[in-house]
Amino acid sequence: MKRTVEEHAARFDEHAPAYDDSKTPEYRACADLVVDHAAPGADDVVLDLGTGTGAIALALAGDAERVVGRDISEGMMDEARAKAADESIENVAFDYGTFREPAYDGPATIVVSNFAMHHLANEEKREAIDRIAAYDPDRFVLGDVMFFGEPDPDEPFFSPDVDDPATVGHLVDALTDAGFAVTAAERVHDQVGVLVAERHSDREAAP
Ligand SMILES: C[S@@+](CC[C@H](N)C(=O)[O-])C[C@H]1O[C@@H](n2cnc3c(N)ncnc32)[C@H](O)[C@@H]1O
Repeated sequence: MKRTVEEHAARFDEHAPAYDDSKTPEYRACADLVVDHAAPGADDVVLDLGTGTGAIALALAGDAERVVGRDISEGMMDEARAKAADESIENVAFDYGTFREPAYDGPATIVVSNFAMHHLANEEKREAIDRIAAYDPDRFVLGDVMFFGEPDPDEPFFSPDVDDPATVGHLVDALTDAGFAVTAAERVHDQVGVLVAERHSDREAAP
């Protein structure tokens, strides 16, 4: 991680009030794909890591039993909480938690994360993915800055001083090593995509 958790939190606290007005078309396409692939049912509990102002969490709350949002920036989550209150969405809760220590004991049948994991170094992404796998979710949908090829140094979709995106290959390796089958890879841009990773838990096998 190129900045500490505290430094990232302070940066996002500062950006929080303007964050929802700063979204690019690539971000929007990625978020829509994460929502579509997550597709919770009425019995699903969704965990959204790096939930920010709650774009994904709030979009999924109407279909899920419950949504748990975790983030390190109280400023971002204050925006999320305000939107939940404005929209009278009551089955969503936003609290402090990191990728590696989400401060949530489960259950989580679906885990999602959008535009957040690229703040972690590659080894930390592996640890985060292992932590996600420990929830034994049916699927993990990851939308993020990720490299489908050599990133164009003149047009980075990320800030090299604060962001640390991985290649798609690295993410697929980490997901596969954690016991997921990667069932879809959606390329939004050379540097933005969505991976769908599934596990087949005992829940499906139960009579
Ligand atoms: C670009 S925003 C994305 C927010 C939201 N997922 C969305 O789609 O709009 C990235 C978020 O990741 C959070 N974040 C950064 N590092 C984190 C970490 N180690 N653990 C949890 N959240 C983190 C930031 O606080 C920020 O809210």
